[in-house]
Amino acid sequence: MSAKSKLYLLAGLSFLAGNAMAQHICISTPNTSLVLNAPNGGELKYLYYGSKLSETDLQHINDASNCNHTAYPVYGMNCPGEAALSVKHADGNMSTQMEVVSVSTNQEKQSTLTTIHLKDKVYPFYVDVHYKAYQDVDMIETWTEISHTEKKPVYMSQFSSAYLPIRRGNVWLSHLSGSWANEGQLTQEPLQPGMTVIKNKDGVRNSHTSHAEVMFSLDGKPQENTGRVIGAALCYTGNYKLKIDTDDSDYHQFYAGINEENSSYMLSKKEVFRTPAVALTYSDKGLSGASRNFHKWGRTYKLAHGNVVRDILLNSWEGVYFDINQKGMDQMMSDIASMGGELFVMDDGWFGDKYPRKNDSSSLGDWVTDKNKLPEGIEGLIRDAKKHGIKFGIWIEPEMANTISELYEKHPEWILKAPQRDPVLGRGGTQVVLDLANPEVQDFVFKVVDDLMTQYPDIAYIKWDANMAIMNHGSNYLAADKQSHMYIEYHKGFESVCQRIRAKYPDLVIQACASGGGRANYGYLPYFDEFWVSDNTDALQRIYMQWGTSYFFPAIAMASHISAAPNHQTFRTVPLKYRIDVAMSGRLGMEIQPKNMTDEEKELCRKAIADYKKIRPVVQLGDIYRLVSPYDHLGVASLMYTSPEKDKAAFYWWKTEHFVNQHLPRVTMAGLHPDKTYRITELNRIDNQPLPFEGKVYSGAFLMENGLEIPYTHKVDYHKLNDYASRVLYLEEVK
Ligand code: GLA
Repeated sequence: MSAKSKLYLLAGLSFLAGNAMAQHICISTPNTSLVLNAPNGGELKYLYYGSKLSETDLQHINDASNCNHTAYPVYGMNCPGEAALSVKHADGNMSTQMEVVSVSTNQEKQSTLTTIHLKDKVYPFYVDVHYKAYQDVDMIETWTEISHTEKKPVYMSQFSSAYLPIRRGNVWLSHLSGSWANEGQLTQEPLQPGMTVIKNKDGVRNSHTSHAEVMFSLDGKPQENTGRVIGAALCYTGNYKLKIDTDDSDYHQFYAGINEENSSYMLSKKEVFRTPAVALTYSDKGLSGASRNFHKWGRTYKLAHGNVVRDILLNSWEGVYFDINQKGMDQMMSDIASMGGELFVMDDGWFGDKYPRKNDSSSLGDWVTDKNKLPEGIEGLIRDAKKHGIKFGIWIEPEMANTISELYEKHPEWILKAPQRDPVLGRGGTQVVLDLANPEVQDFVFKVVDDLMTQYPDIAYIKWDANMAIMNHGSNYLAADKQSHMYIEYHKGFESVCQRIRAKYPDLVIQACASGGGRANYGYLPYFDEFWVSDNTDALQRIYMQWGTSYFFPAIAMASHISAAPNHQTFRTVPLKYRIDVAMSGRLGMEIQPKNMTDEEKELCRKAIADYKKIRPVVQLGDIYRLVSPYDHLGVASLMYTSPEKDKAAFYWWKTEHFVNQHLPRVTMAGLHPDKTYRITELNRIDNQPLPFEGKVYSGAFLMENGLEIPYTHKVDYHKLNDYASRVLYLEEVK
């Protein structure tokens, strides 16, 4: 369907005839509008992004804006600023000048797709700019498709997915950074003149360090529950670059897309280069409001099985590391089943025939059971899982090999490495990355999963790991003049394998793990159900990591496990109650050797698992309201989830600093219905006495304006006193 001039309205789109040239396109979601000017034969211009505009305001939006920015800046003609797209045409011309040719719209099931077709004024060079507006959530995905019919290839040196001008005036940026075991750290800073660049060059994984998602708070210092916020998430599995250029104009200029460094692209005639989508959201309800938009869209449209609550699992890694054996697995399965868990996942160490996997220096690629460790094979393990009434899952790292492996002996040409050079080796001193640009390698990686699932269809869960960066630029498969395509082709190959797996195994639950939180990006999530937030399971540090990660990702996607004390990464001794209370705010699981737990500890976990089952739909499918940030260092962190009907809520409160006679703020709640009344029940109680407000009923208005006084310590026997304190409260509407 296509429409031009005169007033034309659709659920998600309207065109208005304004002045002679003006051709406004209004792309809308339930509460937001993005307005462009797309005059035929003229330049595509950005006009507005914010709260939904009325017809009256839309009529004269042009005159209320001073924005003269194009909606997709290209290099070469009157472009003193940055460009989204920069190409060298077949004849060597470095300039591009795009004009609007037509606009088309397509009504999809839950969204409206608007495409603005652009063509170079002279060359047969085309860019389609797409906007997909969801009708039930405030999210607009935008991306481009670049193609040409020039005589020879066109060389692309920059190819951002999207561009957005953001009006200056005390705009603050919130973004995540980190490193292994410290992922998802939140930084908030005012945007200043100059260029802010957020990027990734790992090659394989893209969220250990910086994240490809940002939020812009438009009304000064970011607030969780008030103020206007624009959020953006680049949905891509590979290297990316986000840029915010603050030059001499009235606008911060935001670009997002594939990282073009060492990736210049030779575009053949008629080939279509599709850039990954950038998901844009707008909320006038603060950062938490933007998060709720990301979460709802993520669960409904991105995440595999995003609206189905997750099983509570025990993962074997921190419990036994590589020391896998049949008896040990049976014991762990029996223990997690007895605590009410629903799934057991056998981690690394189960495979390898000629080279059994004893540590991290061999066997990746040889995905056959180590018969010495597991004489009855995976069948035996599945049988035991069934005996305990739980499901079974397994760890693989299919994109990788070790140089000590049968796979490498057979196919040394399958690894990424430059000719003439010895490869730089990764984990264990022998790890290498397979060349996913190569279709044979793609088939192999698909077959790793396919063989497992064909032989053992009862496998319910796969933990898919990726523990190495691309450290060697070089594909044995790509032609010499296409070596710069390596990063892009790796991820095309990766996605194509994922698509094949999902087409054949739609019900399989798959976790994206990558040395911890290296694969928290919406580019992965259509194929994965969740991600491992971090290899660091220390509850105190997890509060900070999970807080940051929750800006963009819902609790259902954030694997969060109760682990041992002292913690294996920080060596901190955190009481079990606190470890449980933190893990319960995400997708709850365990990462521990239950054999080493006391009966009392197991009983506490059993109760916690039972309670979690009660609040699981609220946590995993509900709306987040972050209340007190750990990054504000007020001595406490707090957040809550409410059900969409606002009849249930789970409230979390964790003390983050420990000083005698300190004064913690009283936390006011959010997201409740002011006129509803709620009964308060404490979960995971360890105190000898109930809290004063246990079982009492309060109005939503009172809880949101006043809040409840949470004691700073637990009332437990003297020998059990410690420096930590945490609470989980369950709120249920009383009718
Ligand atoms: C990575 C993962 C861990 C674990 C190990 C196994 O580090 O992040 O959870 O699976 O690999 O080697």
